Amino acid sequence: MKRLEGKSALITGSARGIGRAFALAYIEEGATVAIADINLQRARETAAELGPRAYAVALDVTDQASIGEAIATVVAHAGKLDILINNAALFDLAPIVDITRESFERLFAINVAGTLFTLQAAARQMIRQGHGGKIINMASQAGRRGEPLVTIYCATKAAVISLTQSAGLDLIKQGINVNAIAPGVVDGEHWDGVDALFAKYEGLAPGEKKQRAGAEVPFGRMGTAEDLTGMAIFLASKDADYVVAQTYNVDGGNWMS
Ligand SMILES: NC(=O)c1ccc[n+]([C@@H]2O[C@H](COP(=O)([O-])OP(=O)(O)OC[C@H]3O[C@@H](n4cnc5c(N)ncnc54)[C@H](O)[C@@H]3O)[C@@H](O)[C@H]2O)c1
Repeated sequence: MKRLEGKSALITGSARGIGRAFALAYIEEGATVAIADINLQRARETAAELGPRAYAVALDVTDQASIGEAIATVVAHAGKLDILINNAALFDLAPIVDITRESFERLFAINVAGTLFTLQAAARQMIRQGHGGKIINMASQAGRRGEPLVTIYCATKAAVISLTQSAGLDLIKQGINVNAIAPGVVDGEHWDGVDALFAKYEGLAPGEKKQRAGAEVPFGRMGTAEDLTGMAIFLASKDADYVVAQTYNVDGGNWMS
């Protein structure tokens, strides 16, 4: 028995990376998935690769009208919305003395406001439907403690953990479970960018930060997007009905809480 049979899911930022892996895993479990991304061209390519139960949706999580249109598209396409993964996010790196207001505002707009207002729009839709739902936010080990150079991103992910707690406690009254996943270091295009930024600020050779980050994981390597899919399926499934307002570390043992 597939665990998400007949479910309708919206995954933000799923044109690539972890969101794409989640979409594939959900489709394999029987769901229909909206590949919602600011990069519509890439979302279309991804949806085509994932097959008939994937479809591309234009979404900028910083734009309230765009969020509303994306939810409406999902309802028009699939008839309902059962699952949201708030996965879209941006990363940046700078020493405290070099942080710009522009970077701060951009990261908070996508990672925090984007998460909150997409969650809000999805919750309103789920409440209208009257059957509850599942919302999963992407936090990070970066939200568990600060890191030199990673100030803004860490703060946004700490905020995502807090939003998950408040929204989780509020929305469970409506049968909507809100939980989060906190990955550690996950290889992919995102981390290629992270590696390049560390190379710039720490004078490392390309690839060196990745190699070090992987070697420091107790499991012995960086994570893959596929390492996270089991938790994403569980949190979207009936098995997680009694799981409320939690953030789960899926990080090879990097963090304990
Ligand atoms: N990769 C890691 O090591 C890691 C670790 C911890 C947490 N995470 C979190 O997991 C999630 C996915 O990470 P990833 O590595 O796949 O990232 P990624 O950068 O590969 O993918 C992010 C996607 O979000 C999209 N996006 C960016 N801005 C958007 C916007 N305004 N509206 C809609 N879509 C937008 C991008 O186009 C991209 O497709 C993020 O929330 C990230 O913070 C990643």
